Amino acid sequence: LGLAAPGALADAYPQRPITMVVPFAAGGPTDVVARIVADHMSRTLGQQVVIENVTGAGGTTGITRAAQAAPDGYTIMMGHMGTHGAAPALFKGLKYDPATSFDPIGMAAGTPIVIVAKKDFAAPDLKAFLAAVKSGGASVNQAHAGVGSVSHSTGVLFDSIIGAKPTLVVYRGTGPALNDLMAGQVDFMTDQIVNVAPQINGGTIKAYAIATPERSPALPNVPTTKEAGLDNYEVSAWNAVFAPKGLPKDVSAALVNALGKALEDESTRKRILDLGGTVPPTAERGPAALQKLVESEVARWTPVLRAAVDGNN
Ligand code: MLT
Repeated sequence: LGLAAPGALADAYPQRPITMVVPFAAGGPTDVVARIVADHMSRTLGQQVVIENVTGAGGTTGITRAAQAAPDGYTIMMGHMGTHGAAPALFKGLKYDPATSFDPIGMAAGTPIVIVAKKDFAAPDLKAFLAAVKSGGASVNQAHAGVGSVSHSTGVLFDSIIGAKPTLVVYRGTGPALNDLMAGQVDFMTDQIVNVAPQINGGTIKAYAIATPERSPALPNVPTTKEAGLDNYEVSAWNAVFAPKGLPKDVSAALVNALGKALEDESTRKRILDLGGTVPPTAERGPAALQKLVESEVARWTPVLRAAVDGNN
């Protein structure tokens, strides 16, 4: 107490609002997770963390822009399994490397994948749904948030596993895709639970299965893929905070601390858990754990996606 030189406090980070780039449309899963954690981070940092939605190209437009911002802590971003795991397999000219272009800050939420369809899709259960998607061919419309996004990667994996070739319909995020699904304009998508749980529970869309080994407490009536008869489709996404590479140490420490405090806060955790998201345990969510996750996700997704995309052509 009282040991800091007067000038040190005056210069302490942050001095002004921080921009958190969300590379998808407002209202979608990444935006929802970003707003939940940014809310609490603002309180710890004493400055607003303002969300900026920079959409396009499966999230890679926003992440490219954020990666090229000054590494001063005033521009950070919410990346995810797509932008920092799947994208390198699908974009030849990607202008960032998920493993080397960023200072990882930490995981924000795990987001299991749910197979959802418009509410009047005729199939009563997953087996009938798989048969309908297979036999429907290009007359079935599958929504996704752009090549390399979570809904795209998990969607083409789904199609390749079941041997279906639906028409892919692209959106700037699964927020707008969900609106069209509710309106019956598209038939189905594979999406992150935090986007779809309220609509599933409200009956405005239907869920055929959740692609996790266990059911989610947020969707107790939705069977797992395994329970519903699709053994080999288990996949979960994640959302995580990154900064452009080269943050000063004190800035990085302040951001890591603010994110950590957010995820320890009971009401912040509850907001994530109520939507079916998961909060990784402390040991699995800091910068080192996130760096490891990114490297293993790129390694895991690259062969899987190249094979799935080749197989679908
Ligand atoms: C979004 O926020 O719209 C999503 O995270 C999109 C996706 O990757 O499927």
